[in-house]
This record gives sequence, structure tokens and C-alpha cells, in this order.
Amino acid sequence: MAEAEIQSGEKEYFLNIPQQNETFFLKGCANYDWGFKNRLARIFNPRSGKTVMLAFDHGYFQGPTTGLERIDVTIVPLTPFADALMLTRGILRSVIPAATGKPIVMRASGGPSILKELSNEHIACDIDDAVRMNCSAVAVQVFIGGEYETQSVNNMTQLVDSGMKVGMPVLGVTAVGKELVRDAKYMGLATRMCAELGAAIVKTYFCPDFERVAAGCPVPLVIAGGKKLPELDALKMAYDAIQQGASGVDMGRNIFQSEAPIAMLHAVQKVVHEGMNYKQAHEYYLDQKNKKNA
Ligand code: 5RP
Repeated sequence: MAEAEIQSGEKEYFLNIPQQNETFFLKGCANYDWGFKNRLARIFNPRSGKTVMLAFDHGYFQGPTTGLERIDVTIVPLTPFADALMLTRGILRSVIPAATGKPIVMRASGGPSILKELSNEHIACDIDDAVRMNCSAVAVQVFIGGEYETQSVNNMTQLVDSGMKVGMPVLGVTAVGKELVRDAKYMGLATRMCAELGAAIVKTYFCPDFERVAAGCPVPLVIAGGKKLPELDALKMAYDAIQQGASGVDMGRNIFQSEAPIAMLHAVQKVVHEGMNYKQAHEYYLDQKNKKNA
């Protein structure tokens, strides 16, 4: 039968069309393996190259942060409107429905509470457990300039090594100590160190001259939201970050502490994926919020 098919010449090999060699859409990520890239492509939208991650891992050192007292009640309803979820494995197993289609970025470092020296973290999750839970990346805090700087960098490099074995990207989170200034010089140092030492994604804070920080970081950079701001200010921060080279946001309090979290998520999506101006996005937020209240 097979021989008959070959002889009949019915098969079509499109001999005039060379096979395409696709390049990967995220900066600095072209040389990873298929599974690793596939995980990244779940977090970042391949069309826009950007992501809106919803961060609600704050409890791992702060306990029940305002807005996160009952994640099942306040956060689970928001998850359909985010591109990816950043959380701890405890919350993932206890509260998040396994049927969620959302990619998971799982916090994999921890230890000290807000009552102690925060930089004294250790690896808090085995990479096998991240694979078991079908995570798309693991996140680790890196305290450049902190008391336990080297230990926290070592946490990251260990996770990078174990992540490489299973195709799991590591998100390096640049933590800022109370005494450290959030300027481009410091952020440039911290983000570059994370990337140089193997983080596939880096998370940082927006700061003046952010475009220099983004340009100096060879892998995708996402920004945290930080403390709750008025919605217009938070949208401006997201807009400025995207315009200056960020590949997305990993935002928590400015979404879940907003008066209208779903409207805020929609507005942030517009800014991140469509480049909508922050003033227009704020109008959009108010519109969505009023519709809900109508
Ligand atoms: C905690 C984190 C948080 O995920 C991060 O701070 C994002 O949340 P927020 O936008 O509320 O700052 O990494 O260490």
C-alpha cells in the first residue's frame, strides 16, 4: 500500500515552499528549549509580546494583606481577566480551582516574615512540585544590597539550574530594602544581575529613567505595582513602563485594592496590550466601573 502511494505521486510536499524557521517573540529568549519557550508563551501573549500578571503572593511574608483576607471570595473572580497568576503553592492548592486555564507563576522563595530580616530567604519549593502543579514559571526574590544578598542570589541560581533541567523559567524579583533608593542606577544593577545570573524574566519597580533599566536588561522586564495609588496614577505608571520598554506588569494591590478590580484589570489590559494612553484607559476604567454599578 505504501509503495503504491509513493508511485502514484499523490503526496504534496510543497517543494517550492521552504520550511519556516520561526524566531521567538520575547527578547533574549530565543535560545531556550521548546518546553521552556512554550511556558513563556503562556505567560506572555505572543501577539502583543506582553503580559498582565495578577500578583497575590503577598501573604507569604505579610500574612492576610488587605484585599487578600479571603482569596476565594475576592481574587478567584478576577482570575479570568488576568493573563497569568502569581501566587504561592499553598494558595494554589487550597483555593485556586484546578480547572483554571491560567498560567501559574509560583513563588518559590520565602522564610522570614515582616517581623524579621526579609532578605534572609531560602528556596521554599522544589522544582518537582512546580512541575507537578503544571506551573509556567517560578518566582524568587533577589535582595541586591540586602543583608543576605549572596544567599538570595544563590537561591535564584539554584532554581535556575533545577529549572533548566525541566524547562521551567525563573522570574527574578528585585526586592528593594527600606534603606535602598529606587532609582535607575540601583534598579539597573539589580535587574541586570538577575538576567546575567539566569532569570528568564525579571520583575522590578518603575522609576525615573526606566528606559535605561529596560534597555540594560536583556530579558523581558515586568513591573510590580507597589502600594495602592489612585487608579489614574497606577495606569500612568503602567503606561510609562510599557512605553519605556517593559514587557508587562505583575500587579497586585493596585488591582485587588481598587474600588472596581475587574474594571481596573480591563483598563490595565488596554494599556499593556493595546498601548492605550493612560487617560483614555482611566475613562475606560470609569466606564466599566459605572456599568457594573448601573
Ligand atoms: C511580593 C511581590 C508581589 O508579587 C509584588 O510586590 C506585586 O504586588 P504589588 O503590585 O502589590 O506590589 O513580589 O514580594
